[in-house]
Amino acid sequence: MSHKKLRQGIIETCIEMNRSGLNQGTSGNVSHRVEGGMLVTPTSLAYERMKNDDIVEMAFDGTYDGKHRTSSEWRFHRDILKNRQDVNVVLHTHSVYCTTLATHERGIPAFHYMVAVAGGSDIRCSPYACFGTQELSNYALEALKDRTACLLGHHGLIVVADTFETALWRATEIETLAKMYVHALAIGEPPPLNDKEMAQVIEQMRRMSYGQAPDLDKVKDAPKPLSVKAAETVIAAPVVTETKPTKAPAEPKTSAKAKAPAKAKAPAKVKAPAKVKAPAKADAPAKVKVPAQAKAAVKPATVKAALAAVDSAPAAPKTAKAPTRKAPSRKAPARKAKTAKPKAPRTAAAKAKATASKKPAAAKSTAPKSPAPAVGSASFKSLVGAALSRRK
Ligand code: 13P
Repeated sequence: MSHKKLRQGIIETCIEMNRSGLNQGTSGNVSHRVEGGMLVTPTSLAYERMKNDDIVEMAFDGTYDGKHRTSSEWRFHRDILKNRQDVNVVLHTHSVYCTTLATHERGIPAFHYMVAVAGGSDIRCSPYACFGTQELSNYALEALKDRTACLLGHHGLIVVADTFETALWRATEIETLAKMYVHALAIGEPPPLNDKEMAQVIEQMRRMSYGQAPDLDKVKDAPKPLSVKAAETVIAAPVVTETKPTKAPAEPKTSAKAKAPAKAKAPAKVKAPAKVKAPAKADAPAKVKVPAQAKAAVKPATVKAALAAVDSAPAAPKTAKAPTRKAPSRKAPARKAKTAKPKAPRTAAAKAKATASKKPAAAKSTAPKSPAPAVGSASFKSLVGAALSRRK
């Protein structure tokens, strides 16, 4: 993207973060990576008055080019962009609920599964350091380790992302989580989801665009677009002309998990959408042209593989220690970023949930070992041929 578009993008992002209520006044700042450095908002300039040439270009060595001074927070923008190659955008806000928690030096624990939008099982809060300092930048980097967001003690929120849109989306989600958490705290510390539950959420989010869950708990009712259903109907049509139809076809399968037809007696069960190419491997999921959002439904990994992936996912970081109610000493060197540690569940319902969450993972997949023959493959053709000839 050209610098002109990036400058414009920074201004639009700032205006949107104020319009949406994520930020107010000239609090907050935004930067975007460019070759060798970044473009960053100037300090203390009203966003609605900001023009492209007000944005400051700064190299990673701290030299800058522009008609204003950079944001006072240029250090953490520079340090994050320098150290995190996965990041293009750094967005800082003083959003109300995140800041409310940050004033107590409380992060956001796994009280709700959506904390995974920050890349892990909690969102940390850094210790306090004065705005604009290298100390604050160091704390921010530490609190952002393996995460895409953190709270800054007694200050606000930092979100990192690859695009402006994702940064705004993530900041909005996290501010909403902070609001929910503050409300939840009004009736006591909510019990946290455990590491295994959070690992499953993180894996599920990794595998899909949100809303298109892979069938990790193997209920086998993944949604499919109408276009696939219509294609299946066309392929299945010859079966309907038979004089003695076999029993109603089972729910059509869209993945390689489809059961192999028992002794080739029901070719209708092997039906597949039109335009199915013979997959390279007999047990590979058929490649079906479907809208992007349907992809998760068409080619989920086997349940076994999904569970194995969850099991082998890097262990989610342990929830941090219980927040000490004692105000921490500001002078303590290099304090660790922390997340509020919820207390053990006290109510009967909470205890029941805690016990339930300890039960073993869902039973392993019972999917047949031998996959259905790939549509179009030699074995598929011979199965269909054998079945049809027996019916003549
Ligand atoms: P700047 O206007 O210098 O970017 O500062 C705003 C801010 O939020 C400091 O943390």
